[in-house]
This record gives sequence, structure tokens and C-alpha cells, in this order.
Amino acid sequence: MDHRVPVVSAADREVGDAPRLRAAPDVRSPLGACPMTTARAVTLRGAGPEDAAFLFRLRTDPVTAAMSFGPVPTAEGHAVWLHDTLANPERRLWIAEDGETPVGVVRLDRVATTAATVNITVAPEARRMGVGTAMLAAIDAAAPVWGVTHLVAEILPTNEASQRLFAQAGYTRTRPGVWEKGR
Ligand SMILES: CC(C)(COP(=O)(O)OP(=O)(O)OC[C@H]1O[C@@H](n2cnc3c(N)ncnc32)[C@H](O)[C@@H]1OP(=O)(O)O)[C@@H](O)C(=O)NCCC(=O)NCCS
Repeated sequence: MDHRVPVVSAADREVGDAPRLRAAPDVRSPLGACPMTTARAVTLRGAGPEDAAFLFRLRTDPVTAAMSFGPVPTAEGHAVWLHDTLANPERRLWIAEDGETPVGVVRLDRVATTAATVNITVAPEARRMGVGTAMLAAIDAAAPVWGVTHLVAEILPTNEASQRLFAQAGYTRTRPGVWEKGR
């Protein structure tokens, strides 16, 4: 399989109508304004093949690996995953940036017409600085542009950091390991 050819259109690389979207904490959205206030803001942009190394570093980070449902990817497995992800119309992969610096990744998987699972990872060097909070606020603004007004997060019971983050961002625990927001 040739992984050099990105199966992604220009439109797929954008988040909503604009190539970049900057979310303010008080953004109006069917998902509601993120109740947490943060001085930080991030922009989201569609991921591409050029993000492979950054994404591999985040996916193989020991903390991320410990909090993931799947196994740690090999370099070859990661290349296949990224190729397939960029070609998948039911998946969105967005890079969160602070200025020009990538600080995290968002993955949305559509599970129903207006619902998607959400998964975020903040780069290790950017944690505990409000980036995760800013990313969830940005997702609240970007997801409805993709037609998603209901977000579902599956979080391991051992992932206390993520449970706190999502709860503070307005998600409700609906059953063990599952946190939801929106309608
Ligand atoms: C979970 C994660 C996304 C948090 O991102 P972050 O940028 O560090 O989060 P923030 O700085 O915005 O923190 C927001 C709140 O989350 C909670 N939190 C974040 N990290 C925490 C930690 N290590 N321990 C306890 N609570 C934590 C706190 O309540 C924090 O608020 P506070 O700083 O006022 O106490 C990040 O640690 C990460 O990427 N972890 C690995 C991957 C992962 O678990 N992803 C989630 C899968 S759904």
C-alpha cells in the first residue's frame, strides 16, 4: 500500500467553513458554552500526512498509552492508521495549535447522524496549562459545523485527569466509563 498519497481533499483539511477556528470560551453552540473559563485558546486545523511524527509521539507517550483502550502502535501500524483515518469520512482528526505550535490532537468518530465519540490528547509538554480545557471549548464550536451536537467520551476509570477535565467542561457521566454532552 502506498502511504505517500494523502487521501484527503482541501475541504477535509478544514474545520468547518474556515481553515482555522479559534474558539472563545463563551462561544455559542448547540453543545452549550464550555462552563470552564480559560485564559488559553487553541486553534484547530485538519491533520495531514505531515503530522505523522507528532501524532506518533503522542500515541506512544506512556501516559497516553496507559489511558488508551487499544495497544501502543508500531511505526508501521501508525502509518496505516493515519492513512486510513485521513480517508475515513466518518472520522475527523484535528491538530490543536497554540500559535504555530502543535499542542494536542482531537479525534471525532461519527456514531450516529448527530453524535460522535470524542478523544483528545494533549502533548506531554503542554499538560496542566489549560490546553485540554481550551481544546474541549474549541470542539464545542467545531463539532456542530460537522453536524455533531452530541459528544460521547469513553474514559477509563483509572483516568482521573480526563474524568475531571470532561466533568468540568460540562460532560455528564451517563454510565460507568461514559461521559456525554449535548443532544
Ligand atoms: C487528560 C488530558 C487531556 C488533560 O489535558 P490538560 O491540558 O492537562 O488539562 P487542563 O490543563 O485543561 O486541566 C483541566 C482540569 O483537568 C484536571 N486534570 C488535568 N490533568 C490532571 C492530572 N494530571 N491529575 C488530576 N487532574 C487533572 C484538573 O481538574 C484540571 O483543572 P485544574 O488545573 O484547575 O486542577 C491530558 O492529561 C492527556 O492528554 N492525557 C493523556 C491522554 C488522555 O488521557 N486523553 C483523554 C482520553 S478521553
